[in-house]
Amino acid sequence: MTSLALADTDPATLAVDAVVVGVYQSADNGDDLELAPGAQSLQTAFNGQLAAHFSLLGATGTPGEVTKLASLGTITAPLVVGVGLGRADAVTSETLRRAVGAAVRALAGVRHVGVAIDVTDGPEGALAAMAEGAALGGYRFVGYKSEPNGKEPVKKLTLVVTNAKDKAAKAVLSRASVLADAVSQTRDWVNTAPNELRPPQFAEQVAEAARKAKLDVEVLDEKALRKGGYGGILAVGGGSSAPPRLVRLAYRPNNAERHVALVGKGITFDSGGLSIKPAQNMWEMKSDMSGAAAVAGVMLAVAALKLKVAVTAYLPMAENMPSGTSYRPGDVVTMYNGKRVEILNTDAEGRIILGDAIARACEDKPDYLLETSTLTGGQVIALGKRVTGVMGTPELCERVRQAGEASGEPMWPMPLPEEIRKNMESDVADLLQISSGMDRSGHMLQGGIFLSHFVTEDLPWAHLDIAGPAYHAGEPYGYIAKGGTGVPVRTLVRLLEDIAANG
Ligand code: BES
Ligand code: MN
Ligand code: ZN
Repeated sequence: MTSLALADTDPATLAVDAVVVGVYQSADNGDDLELAPGAQSLQTAFNGQLAAHFSLLGATGTPGEVTKLASLGTITAPLVVGVGLGRADAVTSETLRRAVGAAVRALAGVRHVGVAIDVTDGPEGALAAMAEGAALGGYRFVGYKSEPNGKEPVKKLTLVVTNAKDKAAKAVLSRASVLADAVSQTRDWVNTAPNELRPPQFAEQVAEAARKAKLDVEVLDEKALRKGGYGGILAVGGGSSAPPRLVRLAYRPNNAERHVALVGKGITFDSGGLSIKPAQNMWEMKSDMSGAAAVAGVMLAVAALKLKVAVTAYLPMAENMPSGTSYRPGDVVTMYNGKRVEILNTDAEGRIILGDAIARACEDKPDYLLETSTLTGGQVIALGKRVTGVMGTPELCERVRQAGEASGEPMWPMPLPEEIRKNMESDVADLLQISSGMDRSGHMLQGGIFLSHFVTEDLPWAHLDIAGPAYHAGEPYGYIAKGGTGVPVRTLVRLLEDIAANG
């Protein structure tokens, strides 16, 4: 990951290996590029020809476009880099986050990068966004290659701003580093091969990171789960030779007025179980623990930021495998809260471990409950790969959506309709796991409705279905690498900050 610094020096004399400037698309779709504020002294060093040179090299200023130019002694840095920001009147904080992320990725192999984009009159949160984009754009999963290949991520990035010495600017930078650390840790867990991250190992790694962050840690193993009556987690984990776990992390500052419960799905591999998945893309189900990884990341950030809000996290972990000890379609499972669930498809396993964890979280009597999971393929069908579906109590869902928007993690509220609730009534048990006849309509909503049965009445709650957004299988873009994205770590931290400040 790239480390961050601030400077208020002239970017033309900045001792770095490359200086990045912003390039706007021309307002009238003509050829004339405009440089974003912050590039004046460079423009002067280039005799007013810097924008023209970028244009000559084919730059158009479209968002995320990167154009490199040798400075040939005109300025201290040997390289000037133009990064597209789109139309000047349409720049958002996410534009800047992605642009700086794209520049950092394109500059892999360069040691020290300066960014000369002055955001004094920029969108809200502009400096924070550039800092986050820089740190996250420099993320790389170390992986398993005997010989590391590819170029080293940018080591250090200096943001040139006029208020570099202000306390506020320094605080923005350190918050961005904390967030980037949390997101990177989350991405690392998601990207880890599933044979190296089975439930006992995942629990141990989360516990170790949490202890270092001075969080309270409790890990329930299979014996403790049996004793505690966690029928859902045990049913799903029963098919695997690696037993399930339930990790509880607690953050308890002195002066908290609110208490928030977090829950994250930790299926370390989802084969579907006896209702086995097709072979194609099954490997991607190593990312089915993204919710748990994100919640663990959030806890590390909350502790580092010393937020004035109490937070308790529950991370149910299991491996969903087919075997002679697997749970079966037709089984009736007794959940932690005593409700009995009729299983119809062992591939709808997330809600079964989450029902237990949510019911347990509610016993702590939190003021809010936030749960996140790669729960349904229906989310991807309905909202695509980049927009998280949010279900629960409307006011909290709206707060989640706003926190998502400000964080560059788009989210959209989804309903929990009565008729689907009715379709999940069982003939023999309290509740069906999925709609009868395996009716796939409103699949994402079925997931939300199932979970609602485990939430205490009147508790504000939200379920974030991140099946698509948690994992990026395509080419990198902005500050998003291939693999785990770390969604929704930044949204949840932001919402917790909001709750700490406003209740
Ligand atoms: N982990 C999957 C959901 C998923 C799908 C996550 C695609 C990421 C990408 C979940 O456990 C699952 O298998 N859901 C099934 C349930 C169905 C069989 C009732 C689904 O959504 O298809
Ligand atoms: Mn599944
Ligand atoms: Zn799953």
